[in-house]
Parts: sequence; C-alpha cells; structure tokens
Amino acid sequence: MRKLAAGNWKMNGTSADLAAVRAVAEAAPGGIDVLLALPATLLDRARDAGVALAGQDCHAAAKGAHTGDLAAAMLADAGATAVILGHSERRADHGETDDAIRAKAEAAVAAGLAPVICVGETLDQREGGRALDVVGAQLAGSVPDRAPGLVVAYEPVWAIGTGRVPTPDQIAEVHAFLAGRVPAGTRLLYGGSVKGSNAAEIFAVPHVHGALVGGASLKPGDFAPIMQAL
Ligand code: G3H
Repeated sequence: MRKLAAGNWKMNGTSADLAAVRAVAEAAPGGIDVLLALPATLLDRARDAGVALAGQDCHAAAKGAHTGDLAAAMLADAGATAVILGHSERRADHGETDDAIRAKAEAAVAAGLAPVICVGETLDQREGGRALDVVGAQLAGSVPDRAPGLVVAYEPVWAIGTGRVPTPDQIAEVHAFLAGRVPAGTRLLYGGSVKGSNAAEIFAVPHVHGALVGGASLKPGDFAPIMQAL
C-alpha cells in the first residue's frame, strides 16, 4: 500500500502561500502520495502546483440553497481529488454527527472524491477506557457502504495541536482495531501533533500508512521531514 502524507491547512493560507504549495510538491519524495487539504479559496489556484489537493468539508447535497456551503462536485471542479470529512473541529464547531458525515461521504463518492474520514476520542473518553468504543462507533456510523479510495484518519482530539502524542502502543492498538474494520486497501493515517521529530516513530507502528498533519503542514520546511520519514 502506498504511504500518504496529508496536510490539513485548516483555516490558514492566502494567495501569498501558493509558493508553499509548490515547495511541498518539489520536496515530495518519489514513491509516496502527498495530499494538501487547502482552504477552498486556494484550490483552483493551486491545481497546477504538482500536488494532489483535497477539500476540508463538503455539503451532503449536490446543489441548492445552502449559503456558504460547497458541494463535493464544486471541490472536484476546483481541482480536489479528495475531501476531509468529520474532522473533530467540524464535529465540535458545527455539531456534525456520524449520520451527517456519512451523507457527506456519499456525496463525495458520487462526485468522484476520495473521502478522508476522521475519527478520534476525547481525553475524557480515553481516560474512561472508551477510546475503542468511540472510534468504532464513529467508523461504523460515518463510513458509507461504498467508498472507493477511502482513507481513515485516527486523530485523538487531545493530541490535535497540543504537542501531546499517544504512545506507539496506544496508536498501534487503535490502528489494529481500525484495520480489522475497514475495507481492504483502506489507508489508515495517524493525526495529532505529528512533527519531523516524531514522524519516524509513528510511521513504524503497524497499520499506520501515513499521517494527517495540521500545523506542521503549513511550512514546507516542517512538512518535508515528515514526508521523508514515510
Ligand atoms: O488534521 C490535522 C489534525 O487536526 C492534526 O493537527 O498536526 O496541528 O496537531 P496538528
């Protein structure tokens, strides 16, 4: 299975940052896949940068009266080949449920986009011994029956943007659990405070096929060592 280094720029990036997209493309090692989830405003302008692009969310409907939303086909039209869905920030900020995420994923698949579906437990849930129950329920509830190109990202909420990373054993436990529950060929990414300094240790964990990187994807100099560690 080809490894995947995915960057999630979240709500960061303007036209001044298009040079960083090109720099990531130039720094990408051969033999792995690289995907940048840019703000939608940059997708079309980055489509010739030499790196695969993703959206960060889409609406479940194909079109209509949904002010401020984007349809999956619009992301595809702007150059995306994938879309992140169910990121914990969207689950928290927008109250997205597993049902809503599954409907978005179905729309993404219909538009030819690969869904990158995020799952992950909060610190309370982990400390309560419920991490596997939580990610299992999120997975069962949010992944459609048919999802070509599906990628699942395990992102413990308590590790996102905190500098706090699960132990390799903790990552291994969740990834082995997920590996037994996703279709063959599904890539499983780890996400949450991945940096150049910890990437190799994380990528050595069984069933980790890459990373979904937030903060360290914003600067090519930070993202390059992560790509190279794959
Ligand atoms: O989508 C990416 C994750 O939320 C990880 O973000 O690398 O800044 O912790 P982070």
